[in-house]
Amino acid sequence: MALYPEFDGKVLVATGGASLIVEALARQFVANGGSVVLGDLTTDHAHDVLSDVGDAGRFVRTDVTSDADLDALLATAVEEFGGVDFAVSAHTIFGCGYLETTRQQWHTSLDVNVASSAMFIEKAVPLIQARGAGAAVLVTSISGKAAQPNRIVYPVTKAALLGLSRNMAQALAPLGIRLNSVSPGWTWSRNIEARYGSREYADDFAGEFHAIRRMAEPEEIADAICYLCSDGASFVTGSDFAVDGGYSAMGPEALGQPYEKFPVIDS
Ligand SMILES: NC(=O)c1ccc[n+]([C@@H]2O[C@H](COP(=O)([O-])OP(=O)(O)OC[C@H]3O[C@@H](n4cnc5c(N)ncnc54)[C@H](O)[C@@H]3O)[C@@H](O)[C@H]2O)c1
Repeated sequence: MALYPEFDGKVLVATGGASLIVEALARQFVANGGSVVLGDLTTDHAHDVLSDVGDAGRFVRTDVTSDADLDALLATAVEEFGGVDFAVSAHTIFGCGYLETTRQQWHTSLDVNVASSAMFIEKAVPLIQARGAGAAVLVTSISGKAAQPNRIVYPVTKAALLGLSRNMAQALAPLGIRLNSVSPGWTWSRNIEARYGSREYADDFAGEFHAIRRMAEPEEIADAICYLCSDGASFVTGSDFAVDGGYSAMGPEALGQPYEKFPVIDS
């Protein structure tokens, strides 16, 4: 039995379509009877991403900084599946530069990670409205809430997405559209694999920062996105859903310290 029968016949459009998070989301959404249209700058992984969803999925090469590309992505959903019910912004660039970041690098990161997410949702709104109601989700990050080593630009863009969700949700609520964000902790992904190599090494490295002592599976982030799109979240808007294994709840005392080192104070 489908976990979310309300997704039957519905259409979800997502950016960052080549990521493992969106691949997992596509599988879950289609398993519940929906269809997906995925956009990404790279088509390298289109076949893998769509392999489990068959005719219920389309992949459109999309540069999110291009309004024409975003229009074409959304038009594919209308032409192929009859409309748009849910919009999920999951693309990102991780930024570059630290104290030497140039103005151009700032502009590029803010354009891709923030302005393009806003434009995607803005463009999806009339289409979702035409279906009566729906929801949108922005994938932000733990990076938007805490300082991280050797990073400035990416965390700033992710913090901006938290503000975008809060503020845009106010405008969308009267239109019958809910907007929320999801903030993953470290999640197994193509970018983590490229940077850290093996899953074992990355899990070991990241485990210390997460109370659950491992990275997230992409499916665990997709679960939260599905929930936020579902009828069960009908009163949830403008919120951020931390799917971070306890990362944002941990204080510095927990970092690298075995709990046994702390005396238990029982009186
Ligand atoms: N992996 C993690 O640990 C982690 C943690 C927190 C949040 N996130 C978020 O999860 C989402 C997915 O990231 P990921 O970690 O899977 O990385 P990823 O690099 O695999 O996915 C990001 C995708 O965005 C696409 N993209 C970049 N620029 C684009 C553009 N101009 N137009 C269209 N697509 C573009 C890339 O091609 C890539 O496929 C991102 O929003 C990221 O910030 C990831």
